[in-house]
Amino acid sequence: MDLHPNLTPVAELVGTWRGPGRGEYPTIEPFEYTEELTFTNVGKPFLVYLQRTWSPAGAPMHMESGFLRVPSPDVVEFTIAQPTGQSELAEGRITGSGADFTLNLRSQILNSGTAKHVEETERNYRRSGDTITVDFSMAAVGEPMTHHLSSTLRRT
Ligand code: HEM
Repeated sequence: MDLHPNLTPVAELVGTWRGPGRGEYPTIEPFEYTEELTFTNVGKPFLVYLQRTWSPAGAPMHMESGFLRVPSPDVVEFTIAQPTGQSELAEGRITGSGADFTLNLRSQILNSGTAKHVEETERNYRRSGDTITVDFSMAAVGEPMTHHLSSTLRRT
């Protein structure tokens, strides 16, 4: 299926990526996980996104899903649904091209009535060589913008 021309700047995301991650936050104990990302071309001007993570023992951890749009060549919009009661609207810029580019996104969050409160997030996806490196920070539960997650993923 042809990729919609809007998605040319992020064509090198399409596929399934897997690798190790590490998490931290001032209010919790550090932890490790395995992450899998898929970006799927459905022939429309967006990619379908699914993320799943597992503990070192193989138990399911966080997962999230969404849609990634590129409305103009250096602009990226990423709508993400969280199972923890947040919906995340991430917007930002694409710098670089081909298989060597970075998405820098900052998000507005809607929290459900019972969710742990997340004020704002920053996401960085670095596509380089044969990897995607993901970094995630958040202002949440009363803490200022602080690093929560890092992972490095390779195509499966
Ligand atoms: C790779 C994906 C992720 C993993 C593996 C992960 C893992 C964890 C773990 C193990 C904890 C501590 C235990 C707990 O409260 O459940 C935690 C806490 C938390 N995470 Fe994440 N998380 C991920 C993504 C996210 C995302 C995308 C958000 C926000 C949209 C988020 C927001 C939070 C919050 C608000 C807490 C609570 C901190 C507290 O209670 O002090 N996490 N996460």
